[in-house]
Amino acid sequence: MPHRLAVPLSRRALLRAGGAAVAATALGGTGLAAPDAGALKPGLAGPAPVSSAGDLVEVELVARQRMQRILPKPAEPSPLITYADQFPGPIIRMRKGQRLRATLVNELDEHTSVHWHGIRLPNLEDGVPYLTQPPTKPGERHVYEFTPPDAGSFFFHPHCNTVELLGRGLAGVLIVEEPDAPEFDADLVCLIKDWHLDKTGKFGAFLTDRGASRAGTFGSVSTINGAIDPVIEVPTNGDIRARLYNIDNTRVVDLRVEGAEAWIIAVDGNPLPPRPLDGWPMGPAMRIDVLFRAPAKAGQTLRLTNVYSAEPRPLATFRAVGPARPNKRFKPRALPASAIPEPDLKDAPIIPMAFSATAVAQSFAPDVLAGLPYADALCLSAKTFWAINQQSWPEGGHEHLPPPLVTLEKGRSYIFELANLTPHLHPIHIHGYTFKVLSSDGRKVVPHHADTVLLEPKERLRVAIKADNPGDWMFHCHIIEHQDTGMMGYIRVA
Ligand code: C2O
Ligand code: CU
Repeated sequence: MPHRLAVPLSRRALLRAGGAAVAATALGGTGLAAPDAGALKPGLAGPAPVSSAGDLVEVELVARQRMQRILPKPAEPSPLITYADQFPGPIIRMRKGQRLRATLVNELDEHTSVHWHGIRLPNLEDGVPYLTQPPTKPGERHVYEFTPPDAGSFFFHPHCNTVELLGRGLAGVLIVEEPDAPEFDADLVCLIKDWHLDKTGKFGAFLTDRGASRAGTFGSVSTINGAIDPVIEVPTNGDIRARLYNIDNTRVVDLRVEGAEAWIIAVDGNPLPPRPLDGWPMGPAMRIDVLFRAPAKAGQTLRLTNVYSAEPRPLATFRAVGPARPNKRFKPRALPASAIPEPDLKDAPIIPMAFSATAVAQSFAPDVLAGLPYADALCLSAKTFWAINQQSWPEGGHEHLPPPLVTLEKGRSYIFELANLTPHLHPIHIHGYTFKVLSSDGRKVVPHHADTVLLEPKERLRVAIKADNPGDWMFHCHIIEHQDTGMMGYIRVA
């Protein structure tokens, strides 16, 4: 008999259940019933709920290796690296307006940090070793504290040695709830991630030169929330909000909920007028919030599939359980808009950002790397295949921090023209800001906000920001192998 978790609680019930605004959510967050009993046990999808004294939400993230079964027997459990007892975890839920205090406890044997992907936070909380904080060494702790300004579906992960650490599962979810969102019957989190596992459950290579210099090195097994093709229970005839995250290192997905009318209601956490889920490719780090109606009869199912491949691939099954909710005709409901500062496009200079392969793959001798004052071998690659504006991280002056790609004047608005000079896809991400996506020379762009945008081969895409958040902000491709082999830099806002 498969293991079952309770039907996900409604948002309100979650708030009640925690006695506070936080539920770090075995029961509420993933709503997962794994066909493989070992994949996810009730009560273990996250750490014990995060304490919340009124306006402060506190959480401890203990980064270390934990064994967890991904593959069915006879394979062994795999040596994941996680922030909580179980992947996926933790799933932190907080209300907009609450303050987060998160303590990283580094029980790894390498230094690390936590980057809060998609949050417009103060630069010192951004979690980039050497750029915004000293790396947190083995045995050390680091406290992050900020009040997320926007509601939405965010996540967090390390920023050095990311190919391996994220490859082994080091990521958590941060959900900031709208105070005035419409009511849904369930609020699910689905994390899409492949694993580089051999048949026995051991990890293989996370990165090959061949992969890193092309589309990437793909994992061998696809999962939702760490489970292979799980059954996720949803309330019968309920209106389901599903937060779909691509947290894979490499894979691009294009999702469908087969058997239901499904609508995109937010992109990277940012609400947009609801539009049908019908072609929204997502590179690594990209998220969509989707709204759909669960089947009208208990026991009926829907399929979550990835159609970004020759054959559509099933990822999970949603199965209706329990008494039918008394919902009438289905119609999509918009989320309340977030207040991202509006760039002034009339006055905005255009900054070219060209993403290319390096002319010649470069290698850096280990002693050269060791001599760099701003980084070390964990934060750099000995090889670079990629560049932004012809500058490869870590190239660019071996004595000091490499110069920023560009320095922007605080308070001014800017348009970035992101030019993909390669035949590959690149999901381009900015820290500390949310892009307003404007236009493309190759396709019709749906106006929206995003912290990561997927550049098609040879495409030029224009995005804008109002540069109101001072600091040094990373700007990189989120195919982690591309990031780690040169396609990374930073912008300075001063
Ligand atoms: Cu998820 Cu530098 O980012
Ligand atoms: Cu890339």
